[in-house]
Amino acid sequence: MALLTGLTIGPFRAIDALEGGRGAVLKYPLPAADGVSIDATNEVILCRSGVEVYAFALSCPHQNTALKVMPKNRGFQCPKHKSKYQPNGTFIDGRATRNMDRLQVSREGNLLVVDPEIVFQSDSDAAKWAAAVVRV
Ligand code: FES
Repeated sequence: MALLTGLTIGPFRAIDALEGGRGAVLKYPLPAADGVSIDATNEVILCRSGVEVYAFALSCPHQNTALKVMPKNRGFQCPKHKSKYQPNGTFIDGRATRNMDRLQVSREGNLLVVDPEIVFQSDSDAAKWAAAVVRV
């Protein structure tokens, strides 16, 4: 998808949802190890860091630029104004004023279920943002 062209550096892998699509709940294999996967079609970032798995909106919470992956699972950076985020989406520095937006996630066996329509912003709903994680 054009949104990612030239904006993402590795390591990451591109994935497609096993089920779902625009306007539907999405299902992905639970990541087996630390790393980042990007579903460009649905603009979803999946990130496993230790025992925690998150789904994020691909766009930067500042001005919606597609985020890129920093090497060695160190998190994410926005190419527009250089905001940086930890692998769990926590804001480190830059022009953004909140953490990366998390999507609602749940576990269904060995699948991660993501609802891309339910977005939690850390500044307006900190409790739900904090709870938007699956532990494996
Ligand atoms: S658009 Fe990402 S920091 Fe401005």
